[in-house]
Amino acid sequence: MNERTIFERAVHDGAFRVLITRQKLQKRIRELGREITHDYRGKEPIVIGILNGCFVFISDLVREIELDLEIDFLKISSYGDAQVSSGNVTMLKDVDANIHDRHVLVVEDIVDTGVSLKYLEEKLKALHPASLKFVTLLYKKDKAKIHFNIDYVGFEIPDEFVIGYGLDHKQILRNLPAIYVMD
Ligand code: PRP
Repeated sequence: MNERTIFERAVHDGAFRVLITRQKLQKRIRELGREITHDYRGKEPIVIGILNGCFVFISDLVREIELDLEIDFLKISSYGDAQVSSGNVTMLKDVDANIHDRHVLVVEDIVDTGVSLKYLEEKLKALHPASLKFVTLLYKKDKAKIHFNIDYVGFEIPDEFVIGYGLDHKQILRNLPAIYVMD
């Protein structure tokens, strides 16, 4: 039996529609890096990635930011393996650094319902950072129910299930190099 993997079907068989190509991702991330470099000039921000989904985006993004910066991670979960948010966010790994009086930039791969971002905002604000900003690669603007502006947005996308470039389907396909829609 020679079954094709889901990865092979995505990349080689065109089973999933490409939403954002690798080239478009690179170009936009370069722009975001330039903007962030400009906005934080003279500061030494701490960039906090939200695991697991952010790991590809944050590694590309920080290499486009020309500043002294620290990197830390925290891990929350609202989805698990489900495609729909449970609405309950839990902290699986807290941030290690002391962010009191620091300029904090939170890096997300996607803002979907906005539940995670709202939770993070409350949690991190309570630690009294000097400033708190958010960057997300993908933003389902029409779906998210958040009442503040996201400071940096890579792409606004429609309400479709997206995978690749860090985003998973049941924990796999995070290593796809572009963003795909899984119908
Ligand atoms: C994803 C994503 C965000 C969150 C966004 O995380 O990385 O943190 O969902 O969704 P929301 O706006 O509806 O809250 P997930 O819980 O799937 O974990 P993962 O990053 O490990 O895939």
